[in-house]
Amino acid sequence: MNWSLVTGATGGLGAAVATRLASEGRSLIVSGRDANRLESIANDLRETHGVDVRTVPADLATNEGLDALRSITDPLDLVVVCGAAYHYGSLMELGDAEFERLTVCNVQNTGRLIRWAIEPLERTNGGLLVVGSMGAILPAPQHASYSASKAWLHQFVRSIQSEEGSDAVRITLGIPGGMATPMLLDSPAWESMQNNPLARMTLMSPEFVATQFLAAVRRGRPVVIPGFLNRWACRLVRGLPLWLRLWVARRFYAVGQ
Ligand SMILES: NC(=O)c1ccc[n+]([C@@H]2O[C@H](COP(=O)([O-])OP(=O)(O)OC[C@H]3O[C@@H](n4cnc5c(N)ncnc54)[C@H](OP(=O)(O)O)[C@@H]3O)[C@@H](O)[C@H]2O)c1
Repeated sequence: MNWSLVTGATGGLGAAVATRLASEGRSLIVSGRDANRLESIANDLRETHGVDVRTVPADLATNEGLDALRSITDPLDLVVVCGAAYHYGSLMELGDAEFERLTVCNVQNTGRLIRWAIEPLERTNGGLLVVGSMGAILPAPQHASYSASKAWLHQFVRSIQSEEGSDAVRITLGIPGGMATPMLLDSPAWESMQNNPLARMTLMSPEFVATQFLAAVRRGRPVVIPGFLNRWACRLVRGLPLWLRLWVARRFYAVGQ
């Protein structure tokens, strides 16, 4: 029996992905930091969908957390790398310890997890879905460390996709825009986005994003950006000179308003 591994399953998007997979009858291994919440999500999925669900509590900012995930030996045909650390605020407010935790979680250990996942997925011709962010494409005021970590991830995934012999695994980079999940709802970014009609218009539900992402990984699409406005924003912004990109980013995040 093959399993699907979903990290960040205690969060808005990861839980939506896990629910979608469970509704299709897939056996799941779900991971996140919060062991109680993880167990309660797993119970809900078992009861509602009658599927096998195992839990692996893991803090990806630690080597122990990474090792807990890397010690999974069950056959995997889908790995969804969704869990990520987040920080809103000026870089100067971010202490060394938090800066290091975010970078270790989102860059170093996420990269190691992806590297580990390739081998089991090659055995099943499986799919790998890595969750990036539009914050990696637009300059993102108050999100320097987070958005830079996602930019690293985008380049990491695109480079693996372009490597010789990478066809055995379907690798998809999923790029969400804003979603009303705890990450955004608990952040001051949520309030400032409320001042901005464009930002509000681009918000999507995690369920919609999860459906789009899973469809893309099944079709073997290398990149998916759910939502018409988000897709066009990414295309347009890439063509703008940097000074205009910065101006747009400040308006979008309503910085200083
Ligand atoms: N929400 C947005 O607007 C938005 C926009 C662009 C991209 N994204 C991306 O979408 C993905 C899902 O985020 P979300 O919106 O669903 O936010 P969320 O509800 O806050 O979920 C974040 C998930 O990441 C996990 N996580 C955080 N730090 C971790 C760590 N050190 N080790 C292991 N897991 C950790 C959390 O686990 P615990 O809760 O158990 O601690 C939670 O499951 C993330 O990759 C995020 O960067 C979100």
